[in-house]
Amino acid sequence: MTRIIKKISEWRKVRNETENKSIGFVPTMGALHRGHESLIEKSVSDNEITVVSIFVNPTQFNDPDDLQNYPRAFEKDYEILNSHNVDYLFFPDYGEIYNDNYRYKLSESEFSKILCGKFRPGHFDGVLTVVMKLFNIIKPHKAYFGEKDYQQLKLIEGMCKAFFMDIEIIQCPIVRDVDGLALSSRNKLLSEEERKFALNFPRLLKSDKSKEEIFRELENLGFKVDYIEEMDGRRLGAVYVGNVRLIDNVKI
Ligand code: PAF
Repeated sequence: MTRIIKKISEWRKVRNETENKSIGFVPTMGALHRGHESLIEKSVSDNEITVVSIFVNPTQFNDPDDLQNYPRAFEKDYEILNSHNVDYLFFPDYGEIYNDNYRYKLSESEFSKILCGKFRPGHFDGVLTVVMKLFNIIKPHKAYFGEKDYQQLKLIEGMCKAFFMDIEIIQCPIVRDVDGLALSSRNKLLSEEERKFALNFPRLLKSDKSKEEIFRELENLGFKVDYIEEMDGRRLGAVYVGNVRLIDNVKI
């Protein structure tokens, strides 16, 4: 059974006892799907101990409604963790993580300001701050992140390098549904019709059209488009289907 740990003090005792074991860490905000499961499977196969955290981090939500509506599914999540033989679930509350009430924060001044950062002010400050806190608490050897959140992944790699952190970041491929939609906890918020409509997004992203053409075509179809950009041999985008913001990227 996956042991649930809510307090940092309790985890520290466990961590002292696991001194010589390799620890893999998968930070999440819950509402787990097969994308998370692929990170968990990799951690379980690479390490002696796997820790998953579930913490819906308020500081990375720039929109209070988005935080309020973010899907939460603790019981199902816990079943998933058990089925993968995850050793520990770290499940802290706000006060445990933000003992400073977010007076201290970590920010990056360039790459975090473009792509999603341009449209979600403060988002990456929240992400980097909570990931730094979680890394300092869990003290993993390896941590697993999905390529769907490509900008997040690169910023976390950069943070580890900038702060000389001895944690290996393992980059894991995007997991898609059979029809091509990248898995995301936010997909749970789409109606059946919206989900069907959303399929245009990965379809156009991987087409051989230019980024400008893709942007225009998505807008003409009725998406609100934040950006379509190309970098690092990838085409990345963020769009809204109704109120639900989806991001995705493909290799080009
Ligand atoms: O990718 C996520 O689920 C979150 O941004 C993370 C890394 C768990 C930080 O809250």
